[in-house]
Amino acid sequence: YPHASSVDDGRLTIGGCDAAELARAFGTPLYAVAEDDLRSRAREFRAAMGEGEVIFASKAFPCTAVLRVFEEEGLSVDVASGGELALARSAGFPGDRIILHGNAKSARELETAVDMGARIVVDNFDDIDKLDALGKPANVLIRVTPGVVADTHAAILTGHAGSKFGFSLAQAPEAIARLQAASWADLHGLHMHIGSQLFDLEPWRLAVEAIATLGDFPAYDLGGGLAVAYTPDRRPPSVTEFVGNMIASANELLGEGKRLSIEPGRALTATAGVTLYSVESVKDVDLPDGNVRFVAVDGGMSDNLRPMLYDAPYQADLVDRVGAVGTPCTVVGKHCESGDVLIRETSLHEPKVGDVLVTPVTGAYVYAMANNYNGVPRPPVVFCKDGDARLVVRRETFEDLHGRDV
Ligand code: LLP
Repeated sequence: YPHASSVDDGRLTIGGCDAAELARAFGTPLYAVAEDDLRSRAREFRAAMGEGEVIFASKAFPCTAVLRVFEEEGLSVDVASGGELALARSAGFPGDRIILHGNAKSARELETAVDMGARIVVDNFDDIDKLDALGKPANVLIRVTPGVVADTHAAILTGHAGSKFGFSLAQAPEAIARLQAASWADLHGLHMHIGSQLFDLEPWRLAVEAIATLGDFPAYDLGGGLAVAYTPDRRPPSVTEFVGNMIASANELLGEGKRLSIEPGRALTATAGVTLYSVESVKDVDLPDGNVRFVAVDGGMSDNLRPMLYDAPYQADLVDRVGAVGTPCTVVGKHCESGDVLIRETSLHEPKVGDVLVTPVTGAYVYAMANNYNGVPRPPVVFCKDGDARLVVRRETFEDLHGRDV
């Protein structure tokens, strides 16, 4: 749960707001965010980085209110499309604190970013051709695939040889030479991002070692990827350990005094957010090897795709009986397929229809990947702080579902 939350007599409070009351006031499903946690995480990263730059990977929670908080906290922002770029701009980020990524950038996306003075992370030779054709002065970094394999789900691994992202170590020298020769290009340095939800620090060190062979540059962006604890069984490194390791590797292998950036997404927002659902059905199914209790809620794969895409583990509680001894339950969504399982097994105390169920650690890549499967409107986002609940994104309506019809 967020640091700015508490459990009193089994009742959960987020940012001083009673969770059951939030569900009543705003309806469910609902994304509730402890604003203080966003700020404290941002400060933790900034303090650990010192002079270095902390770039929020906005894909983790691409919402104006979240971006504004990080803008105020002095972070920069990573955008991976024209849409994220527009969002960053409307949240007030100046161009020099925006970094454009992507392995399939359009000429239009590149031009918009260049015109804003954003940094471009060049991923491929086609990026260079498009920027060449544009011919406008551009700040660039080169994304390199360092060829390390980190231990995470294959879908979120990016730094291995054969990844679709960046230049291989073999191709990078040609990209560097082309950009050093281009009159329009101001080549700051190199970028790497080896993957996401990573627990071990060693792959970063190996990756830095790999990119160090490509020459000496003033700036290095070492990417994101720090894991968060979705369940208590595996503890990720702390921000201080993660950043300390990164800086130590950089100082040793790239040389002292470099302009260093890191790009966390998940680690900035995941624990700040929870999702609230209402229980709509409790069904016991008898099987030869035991009973299964399905607790069905009013959301599912439309508001959190992560369990279905990555087998991502979550836990749940009932918001007025947190910590009560329970029995094994399977939490499923309302969608028309059997794969719509939010949690294979969690322990809940006598769940019944009308209970409010909460899934913690849902502040990253959850809102971001929400969709309208089965015509389910996407949930609202509420910021909770010091007992005040502030709606920052409204719930979609049925009208929104056909609002783009022509
Ligand atoms: N930088 C780049 C270039 C990235 O591609 C990403 C994430 C990040 C930074 C931030 O990584 P983080 O610190 O959040 O691990 N949808 C997946 C995660 C995809 C991550 C994509 N890139 C999930 O729900 O786990």
